[in-house]
Amino acid sequence: MTPMARQLSYPKEKIKILLLEGIHPAAGGVFQEAGYEAHPVRSAMSQEELREAIEHIHVLGIRSKTEVRQPVLESARRLLAIGCFCIGTDRVDLDAAASRGVPVFNAPFSNTRSVAELTMAEVVMLSRKAAYRSMQLHLGCWEKSASGSREVRHKTIGIVGYGHIGSQVGLLAESFGMRVVFYDIVNKLPLGNAKQLPTLRQLLKISDFVTLHVPESPETRNMIGRRELAAMRSGSFLLNLSRGSVVDIEALRDALAAGHLAGAAVDVYPHEPKSNEAEFRCALRGLENVILTPHIGGSTEEAQRSIGIEVAGALVKYMDTGSSGGAVNFPQVELPVVKNRHRVLNVHRNVPGVLGNINRIVAEMGGNISAQCLGTRRDIGYLIMDVDQLISREVKRKIDMLDTTIKTRLLF
Ligand code: NAI
Repeated sequence: MTPMARQLSYPKEKIKILLLEGIHPAAGGVFQEAGYEAHPVRSAMSQEELREAIEHIHVLGIRSKTEVRQPVLESARRLLAIGCFCIGTDRVDLDAAASRGVPVFNAPFSNTRSVAELTMAEVVMLSRKAAYRSMQLHLGCWEKSASGSREVRHKTIGIVGYGHIGSQVGLLAESFGMRVVFYDIVNKLPLGNAKQLPTLRQLLKISDFVTLHVPESPETRNMIGRRELAAMRSGSFLLNLSRGSVVDIEALRDALAAGHLAGAAVDVYPHEPKSNEAEFRCALRGLENVILTPHIGGSTEEAQRSIGIEVAGALVKYMDTGSSGGAVNFPQVELPVVKNRHRVLNVHRNVPGVLGNINRIVAEMGGNISAQCLGTRRDIGYLIMDVDQLISREVKRKIDMLDTTIKTRLLF
């Protein structure tokens, strides 16, 4: 047991953890080390199946195929937390989960490096027309030529969105001897010799390679359209490993067909097939020097493993200490664990007077609060409070009776 770990008022062996969709076994290992037993299932569950199964589940782990919507949450009477063992959390109704006192955790950075590595590999492949030449060779055509094949050293890479992935791409590109410029709506500390530019237009004008690493948002929808493509240097390359909505695909096809762009690498699409069996339809199919990959930028074994460890770790920490750090739909509250204290965790409706009422309960019992931390997010408040061991059960019982309370747990 780690020094942070403590017992739950509810025995750990009775906590039911269901991990769907073949979540990496490393996650099970994290739970086991903390004294929990997880039940892994290879497949996803339909809404009906999950609705039935979830009734007795305390912790649910999903990937991208299982949806957790209102009807499922209504049956989830015992559910304490959800782990999305992936980056996105759009499969879960986050507000409905929060309103039931259920935090949702994900793994936002576990595959950052995987995306950055593929991006750089594709920069080189595009510059050498390597994917195209490989395809030709598979067809039996020996096309040995240096024409149009260039080193990436001393070329300029323009990174749009200098967040976790973008900044890693910048570091790798610099090791290749490239000049790195970036555009971001936020002022960022440039790593290495990278230079932030004030406008997207300036970046497009001077970059040999433009690589997109922005999130999906109303502002980034079609942020690379006809105008932006026309503003790019003639003979330059575009890479999109961010989200399909960021690029106007038809406009990109036209820019490539017209020879204005020398090539593109695309990993994400406005419409992606729902399964590996469905046909991939896209205006970019069949174009020369266009590398198409099926949304695999972040799909590596290392990333899957680190997602397993990261999300399971966050869930264990929440179960063991109440810490909600990293939850996407919940107030972020952490409090160091101290010995010989019982910990009360209370999720409540965020209305005035809750903390006063809770403190009054402890004061009226002549108890002592040794530490307390409260955070709010929208309609939800979350309190972690350490109290004397003798009064903790009674304090929990009384807090449970407040009409503002959504969920209360006791750790000791
Ligand atoms: P991040 O949140 O760390 O970085 C995004 C950056 O974009 C931030 O610095 C933000 O300020 C900036 N930004 C936001 N709106 C902008 C705008 N309108 N113009 C310029 N900059 C803007 O995100 P992270 O982790 O680096 O991910 C980036 C993208 O990569 C996301 O779209 C994500 O979905 C995608 N992704 C793709 C994967 C794949 O398999 N291809 C795997 C993982 C992530």
